[in-house]
Amino acid sequence: MEKIVIRGGNRLEGAVEISGSKNAALPLMCASILSSEEITLHRVPGLKDILTTKQLLLQLGVQLDDLSSGTLKIKAREITDHTAPYEMVKTMRASVLVLGPLMAREGRAVVSLPGGCAIGARPIDQHLKGLEAMGADIRLEGGYVHARARRIRGTDFTFDLKTVTGTENLMMAAALAQGTTVLRHCAVEPEIDALANLINGMGGSVDMSVPGTIVIEGKDRLHGVAHDIMPDRIEAGTHLIAGAITRGDVRVCRCEPAHLLPLLEKLSQTGLNVQVGDDEVRVISNGRGKSCDVTTDPYPGFATDLQAQYMALMVLADGRCQITENVFENRFMHVQELVRMGANIKVSARTAQVDGVENLSGAHVQATDLRASACLILAGLAASGETEVHRAYHLDRGYERIEEKLRKLGADIRREKDVII
Ligand code: EPU
Repeated sequence: MEKIVIRGGNRLEGAVEISGSKNAALPLMCASILSSEEITLHRVPGLKDILTTKQLLLQLGVQLDDLSSGTLKIKAREITDHTAPYEMVKTMRASVLVLGPLMAREGRAVVSLPGGCAIGARPIDQHLKGLEAMGADIRLEGGYVHARARRIRGTDFTFDLKTVTGTENLMMAAALAQGTTVLRHCAVEPEIDALANLINGMGGSVDMSVPGTIVIEGKDRLHGVAHDIMPDRIEAGTHLIAGAITRGDVRVCRCEPAHLLPLLEKLSQTGLNVQVGDDEVRVISNGRGKSCDVTTDPYPGFATDLQAQYMALMVLADGRCQITENVFENRFMHVQELVRMGANIKVSARTAQVDGVENLSGAHVQATDLRASACLILAGLAASGETEVHRAYHLDRGYERIEEKLRKLGADIRREKDVII
């Protein structure tokens, strides 16, 4: 076990380069199952979740060739296994993303049910309902989903709610279906556009011209392609907040500013000077920012994956604000840890009321999930004294070389072996 140790108080300054997006890379890697030809992905981030997905694909019989500098070649010439086991789904829920492509290519899949997690119940009922509408026979047994179909067929399906991986799973299933699939009330995150681009590059037909509706014409086969993974908008947002919370001047480079608009709007409202370029954003702080309410929502709303980090910023802002979490029912696990550092936060149902304080003091805190760990690191950067964030493994799932990147901006941050578990 490792921990991150931060001595707070340094003003961050300089430029940081953003990595490829975790949540785009995971479905794209799983989409390689759709073709027997080679898929080449560039700008694959070096993350634990990427490693887990590689292991899962290897187990299914997929060949992987990991080149240096973030290029990954994947070839699913033959699928020899159809199971996503409990041990993998338990460590990474996105493992369920093999369900759609396995059903499309092989007509069978056995995938462990994910169960609850630290941020909410997170069922996959919509993935299963959609696959059933596409002709799959689905049985739940021994904690596993057993799905079978002679061939997935096109259908007209409306999601009951917006789900990112649910939309991705059904898009991949539909890519090799017999006939045309219309998916309605879909999630519209940029990572979904990236998946549509990949499938189209493989010779598929995905039309997203009507927002929220995806029309996929099933093909008999798809071919190989090379694809550049989009920048990670959550990593970009986290570094912008790092600049803001340390009252610094940080330029976040190689990102897509259009994907960050809801955050940028809030950062401007708090009083930061936000300068937007073609593929970079600079934030310059002129001192303590103002409190500003936020409500998370599916894209294009404010991202739930930035809620914890934004809360760290609000904890030190001037005034009171309400932060409402509309996507997950239990995504306030970071609150009690922030309170241990001196924050003044009260949670009632899905809303946290944050009264800004002037200072935080370093403490031992426990990371409970990926974004909560980023939040605690941000708080540690601004706190006086030393903060130790335990359970650093959460961080490694989604932030590539974060200590190195923050150190380059001037942070006093290091990783150490941990005895507390
Ligand atoms: N939901 C259902 N039924 C379903 C699917 C979802 O009730 O069948 C509910 C969930 O419980 C949740 C809401 O719908 O309340 C939205 O969940 P969604 O399915 O969109 O989340 P996800 O696809 O499991 C992805 C990201 C998450 C991100 C969410 C929301 C990936 C691999 N994961 O999860 O990323 O928080 O969308 O934007 O894309 C992270 O990176 O830290 C992370 C958790």
